[in-house]
Amino acid sequence: MDPRTWATVDDYLTDNLLGSDEALDDAARAAAEAGLPDIAVSPPQGRFLTLLATMVRARSILEVGTLGGYSAICLARALPPDGTLVTLEADPRFADVARGNVDRAGVGDRVDIRVGAALDTLPTLRDDAPFDLVFLDADKASNAAYVRWALELGLPGTVIVVDNVVRHGAVADATSDDPGVRGTREMFELMAAEPRVDATALQTVAGKGYDGFALALVTG
Ligand SMILES: C[S@@+](CC[C@H](N)C(=O)[O-])C[C@H]1O[C@@H](n2cnc3c(N)ncnc32)[C@H](O)[C@@H]1O
Repeated sequence: MDPRTWATVDDYLTDNLLGSDEALDDAARAAAEAGLPDIAVSPPQGRFLTLLATMVRARSILEVGTLGGYSAICLARALPPDGTLVTLEADPRFADVARGNVDRAGVGDRVDIRVGAALDTLPTLRDDAPFDLVFLDADKASNAAYVRWALELGLPGTVIVVDNVVRHGAVADATSDDPGVRGTREMFELMAAEPRVDATALQTVAGKGYDGFALALVTG
């Protein structure tokens, strides 16, 4: 199938199902103008995150990988007024763009952006735990370590979503030396072996190509 079809369908769904969203459109525009890479979740994926956070009645959300704050806005919208999203970003310039975007989107009071490499900032979050929902969307080489931290900072009932786990199909290649593929395979091995986790993963096609996400529930 022509990948352009996936983009056309994403546009159709965005225009006809999701409807216009000025705050998210502005956030995407500000990120592009600031020169950030075009690697945020798509509008349908963003709505999926909003719905998931709403369904689990999340009051406390952890995101790893803020970029310009697009997914942070989607997640924070599902929070009650006293809820919190802690989002971790390594690049201070990206974090600045995200700060402006979440403030303009009207969710800035619920969003706490921490700058630094996530493996350095995660150990400082014990007082912010437990998190009801964890969205992992940073460097894929560290995916297994991030899932270990999600378990550490979660409770039974915590939902973990990991983005970009199919890697254009390369995740099935045991010989790959791509750090993102290796890190994601390590993460799946961890999820499969970890008795406190029940997980699945779904392949997706979308405007941004062929990929997928993992969904896990902390059960014990
Ligand atoms: C795919 S983007 C996140 C997109 C964002 N979640 C969204 O959908 O709007 C990945 C982000 O992770 C950040 N990142 C990469 N390695 C990181 C690390 N070790 N610690 C924290 N952030 C990291 C990158 O700078 C980038 O902004």
